[in-house]
Amino acid sequence: MERAKHLAETQSQLDRRAGVPGSEREEEGTGIHIPVLFQIVLDGLQVRPGGRYIDATVGGGGHAAGVLEASSPDGRLLGLDRDPAAVKAAGMHLASFGERVALVHSSFSRLAEVARARSFVPVDGILFDLGLSSLQLAGSERGFAFMADGPLDMRFDPQSGGPTAADLVNGLSTGELAVLLSRYGEERHARRIAEAIVAARPLYTTAELVDVIEQVTKKRERIHPATRTFQALRVAVNDELAVLESALPQAVEILSPGGRLAVISFHSLEDRIVKRFFRQESRDCICPPEAPACTCDHRAVLRVISRKPIRPTAAEIADNPRARSSRLRIAERIG
Ligand SMILES: C[S@@+](CC[C@H](N)C(=O)[O-])C[C@H]1O[C@@H](n2cnc3c(N)ncnc32)[C@H](O)[C@@H]1O
Repeated sequence: MERAKHLAETQSQLDRRAGVPGSEREEEGTGIHIPVLFQIVLDGLQVRPGGRYIDATVGGGGHAAGVLEASSPDGRLLGLDRDPAAVKAAGMHLASFGERVALVHSSFSRLAEVARARSFVPVDGILFDLGLSSLQLAGSERGFAFMADGPLDMRFDPQSGGPTAADLVNGLSTGELAVLLSRYGEERHARRIAEAIVAARPLYTTAELVDVIEQVTKKRERIHPATRTFQALRVAVNDELAVLESALPQAVEILSPGGRLAVISFHSLEDRIVKRFFRQESRDCICPPEAPACTCDHRAVLRVISRKPIRPTAAEIADNPRARSSRLRIAERIG
């Protein structure tokens, strides 16, 4: 209990430092990641001894350790992460599980291919815990946190060679930036912020970008005025929505009948994709309602377990502010 409390306190210090919504002050922290909705995820996946599981976003290995414990003595876990630093951290955290765990540096956009290569098909349960880990928020050098000054990078995989946040901020036109901020950040002041960015650039650091945003937005909002811009840039840099859309069908394809899929999302854009996918794949017919007869030949492959998204309790949010916006959806493979 004392240890849990200590972890929670450390987390909330970290969140304050990283500028996570709901945290008020800036303090020192150590980067410990507390897995959200931990027990509900394990129950939802119906983890059992001897089972085979994939954690598609292994992060610091918190959920993965829970799956490995609950599937003792012989359950196995394959963990993927797009961030090489996360794979390393998970490797250290999960070392005591020995051969029962395999970790791969990969985006979950290659989920089925990686699972086949590792003989993890069919699999009994798959978890996606989307977004950022506290490890990523803690280090200013990645550019994810707007309260810590660092380079405008934001790539989950710094080795990918893909565009950075600085490339987008300095290269897009005002119109393109406004669309990006509005679409991926649901930012009401998208146009105003885009114009200010273009007038102030080149911008290379998170602090420079935060400065520009603060100058053109009110500071009295519930969340920090840079929150939505940072979300939008991160989503765009990592093409997060398209990657999620491509991974969900692969997850269904490799699940065994009765296998469970659990997805934790942290903003409505992600949650909408998961909700629509679950709804579509749990229907026998997806013809438009006005069609006189079914012509789609679509067959349901999922049974939705959680009709409504599962949210953290007030107690969990108090212990771990990062859990605040989390939403869990669970479905089961049929057929
Ligand atoms: C919220 S953290 C996961 C934390 C983990 N559940 C735990 O308990 O430690 C999300 C992780 O997903 C990773 N990630 C984001 N997009 C990814 C993708 N397309 N493929 C694989 N990993 C991804 C991030 O690098 C990050 O480490």
